[in-house]
Amino acid sequence: MTASPPVTIVRSVAELRAQVAVWRAAGETLALVPTMGALHAGHMALIFRAHEIASKVCVSLFVNPAQFGKNEDLSTYPRNEASDLALLSGAGVDLLYAPDVTQMYGPGDATRVSVGSLGESLEGLSRPGFFTGVATVVTKLLLQCLPDYALFGEKDFQQLQVIKRLVKDLAIPVSIASVACYRENDGLALSSRNIYLDKDERLIAPALYKAMNQMADAMRSGDTALLSSQAAQAFLIHAGFSSVDYLVACDAETMSDIMSLADLHGRPGRILAAARLGTTRLIDNIEL
Ligand code: PAJ
Repeated sequence: MTASPPVTIVRSVAELRAQVAVWRAAGETLALVPTMGALHAGHMALIFRAHEIASKVCVSLFVNPAQFGKNEDLSTYPRNEASDLALLSGAGVDLLYAPDVTQMYGPGDATRVSVGSLGESLEGLSRPGFFTGVATVVTKLLLQCLPDYALFGEKDFQQLQVIKRLVKDLAIPVSIASVACYRENDGLALSSRNIYLDKDERLIAPALYKAMNQMADAMRSGDTALLSSQAAQAFLIHAGFSSVDYLVACDAETMSDIMSLADLHGRPGRILAAARLGTTRLIDNIEL
């Protein structure tokens, strides 16, 4: 077996643009996969899809301080560039863009991108400022790289809608492609934060996926969102979750709450959830 070639790493916008210019001159197409590292099979699904739609694949790795709240896990967020690099090289990634904080937020940096109400509900309520941090860094990454495609996971469904909105509003010339959530066999959505779960919590964690499915089934059989959410939340707490930040049914595009399936008028719907298991906060969503 031959070893995979090492991935080229660039750490500045100038180096990134120089490489992209070479590819452009050669008629290549480019897909960008933004990540915060601690890569797992969910990220790899995005990379796999990126290879299918573009001839060159760039992954960015940047743990973005602007999207972490004061009491969140910025300092302890899992970082392991060496094992990430091994995965990226095995996946045939062409370029890793791994800027440091001063490259992304230089001296005097002041501009922020905010997407209004879409970023203020659900995750935005639980984590004030989170989506402004995400929207700002994603805008920067897209403008620095100017790829043809950028890929995001449905695992972070509200984030995906926020990014689609900002790309449209700012007329950034990139197509956003999304990839379904990658799950463990027991239903737990892969996440870099799953390593925070201890052995017992790991056994309880799939209840989140079960609770969302239970809520979706109840709504399909005619229950209101409120009643089905209350029953599914009780199930989660009984399973061992400490609290539920939200468990709601939404219009998948506007992210506005719905009371029952009829409110969708045939449009796509989504169940979205965030809940705490010990000290770990898990988020997930499914189609309705
Ligand atoms: P991160 O959590 O590293 O996720 C990077 C990308 O991988 C996101 O698009 C996310 O939705 C996707 N992803 C994570 N887990 C997944 C899973 N189980 N199945 C499918 N896709 C999955 O999301 C971020 O980083 C950041 O907010 C970022 C967009 C990079 C901006 O800083």
